[in-house]
Amino acid sequence: MITQNTIQQITNRIDIVEIIGEFVKLKKRGVNYLGNCPFHNEKSPSFTVSPSKEIYKCFGCGKSGNAIGFIMEHEKYSYVEALKWIAARYNIEIEETQTTPEVKQQQEVAESLFILNAFAQKHFSTNLTETEEGRAIALTYLKHRGFRDEIIKKFQIGYSPEAKDDLTRALITNQFNIEYAQKAGLVVVRNDQVMDNYRGRIIFPIHNQSGKIIGFGARVIKSNDRAPKYINTPENEIYVKSKILYGTYFARQAINKYDECLLVEGYTDVVSLHQAGIENVVASGGTSLTTDQLRLIRKHTSNLTIIYDGDAAGVKAALRGLDMAIEEGLNVKLVLIPDNEDPDSYVKKIGATSFREFVDVNRKDFIIFQLEVMLKDAGNDTSKRSTVVNHVAETLSKFNKAEDFTKQQDYVRQCASILKIDEGGLTNLVNKLKRERITKEESRQIETIPSPAVTENDSVAPSDTSSLLVDDEYQERDLVRALLEYGLLQWDEEKTMAEYIFEELEHYHIENPDLENLFNVYKDYYYKGLQPSAKTLLYHEDPTIRKLVIDLSVQKYELSPNWDAKMEGMNINNRDISRQDVLMSLNYFKLRKIKKMFDENQRDLEKARTYEEQIDMIKIHNVLKVEEQKITQLLGTVIFK
Ligand code: UTP
Ligand code: MN
Repeated sequence: MITQNTIQQITNRIDIVEIIGEFVKLKKRGVNYLGNCPFHNEKSPSFTVSPSKEIYKCFGCGKSGNAIGFIMEHEKYSYVEALKWIAARYNIEIEETQTTPEVKQQQEVAESLFILNAFAQKHFSTNLTETEEGRAIALTYLKHRGFRDEIIKKFQIGYSPEAKDDLTRALITNQFNIEYAQKAGLVVVRNDQVMDNYRGRIIFPIHNQSGKIIGFGARVIKSNDRAPKYINTPENEIYVKSKILYGTYFARQAINKYDECLLVEGYTDVVSLHQAGIENVVASGGTSLTTDQLRLIRKHTSNLTIIYDGDAAGVKAALRGLDMAIEEGLNVKLVLIPDNEDPDSYVKKIGATSFREFVDVNRKDFIIFQLEVMLKDAGNDTSKRSTVVNHVAETLSKFNKAEDFTKQQDYVRQCASILKIDEGGLTNLVNKLKRERITKEESRQIETIPSPAVTENDSVAPSDTSSLLVDDEYQERDLVRALLEYGLLQWDEEKTMAEYIFEELEHYHIENPDLENLFNVYKDYYYKGLQPSAKTLLYHEDPTIRKLVIDLSVQKYELSPNWDAKMEGMNINNRDISRQDVLMSLNYFKLRKIKKMFDENQRDLEKARTYEEQIDMIKIHNVLKVEEQKITQLLGTVIFK
């Protein structure tokens, strides 16, 4: 875990304009900055960054957050990854905290698994080249398939003999923990007997980004076996299939150099292409790509070329990952290998130069390819064709980065022309789908309700206010917002605004649990002398608090570019409205609560059975009335002062 101290350093150093400015062209507009939203397609800018509040908000699509949230959203990073990115940006050294016992335990297991795998790999390699059986069966087989010594050595390919306990014995002799060996998938226990998991198989070690072995793929040699062709390492602390692409360790530099990543299905395809000098290649293991795998690729390049054999199954599997690839901002191309060949056999057949040429010439755009395949299936069936249109629109609506929008437009044009439909119609459909998705995402988050206390028309007469008081969450939000904004300022010589609010709220209750929680966190920080504010709580460890603070800080009246333009020169943002704002928020809050009490009291009065009960309720009613009058009077003087 990153230490609190480092997080503090990072948040202190953050300049949100600088950070977002790396991705979005921002122009100063009043106290804020304005640019084209990177999360949706727009012609006139509504993406606003407030340096004073350290937040961004798009008034077009509604996305908002702090600098860390921006990096998370834009780069698809986790919270910790985003912190690390910002730390690197500002040359801040990252300090990690003492790990929890569970994390420590996990790290120890991981370490043990790495050591076991390294041992096993050496054992398998020795078997291949130094034993009679290995040379006679496995090495002969590999040579026969055209794999040369250097490539076998580079990929650390090995052999596990037929005997059922060859590795097991070596592990026991070297006093390895058998339980961990089982976790690593090296041994299995059957009828209380420990034995090798891989027997009579070629072993392909799988490396992580730094070259350590995280698992193995073990291929049968005798194909008449009923056993599966490959046995793979089970999921464990270091082997997480959804995050692994075979060959990344050996391919990284070539991928960077060629700015392209070739994707094939099998281990042997990767090894063969490497041997032929084509090194920017990784393998998916024949399943459809996961988001984590796509991100792994995108760290090095945004150009992904999938090279599969022409059979339908492989292509279908790849197609399933297409929308995800687009969301990740990858350009996906497809090359189909002909005539029952796979990249391994094909490169051996035609040679490296011809293979490269073949890839260059036959690279098909994946979106267009998908469209053509679907259209062919649909034939002249009108309803099927309209399904195709919807499907294509769905795919095209997945472009979500500003730099991809030109590409999106190009595709709309091309697809409309292939489909023989109107380009404008397709654009509308794509935009509609995109809007629907954003709305769905947004509605899952906390609703933002604009502040009632200071509106563009801040002379609302008290007598009109009852109509505003429809829901007390509205007032609760606004009060907590005022607390965040002004709490640390002085109310008078004796107390701060926060203390004033705490005092005044003694007999009232915040009912919304999230707001109540934030209020209590604030109070707690305050009495611990931690100087809470929107800015400090913006980086609170609890994401619901962070989100709520951002929501409360985003004020349309202040952030809206229109408003800024209208009020330019009036210095609206520097006028001290803090006291007024706190008073109004507090009193609208109380009014609303009193109104609620009135209603409750009224209901009770109707139900009252005795005269005494009625008298009590009328007394309460009168007290509330007095209280209400005091407040409306106060609000009146505030407003008309
Ligand atoms: P292939 O059957 O194409 O294997 O499966 P391959 O690697 O090209 O091997 P050769 O050339 O026939 O010797 C492609 C990939 O699918 C996964 C493996 O990752 C394999 O490399 N696979 C296949 C399995 O995990 N298990 C299996 O039983 C089969
Ligand atoms: Mn193959």
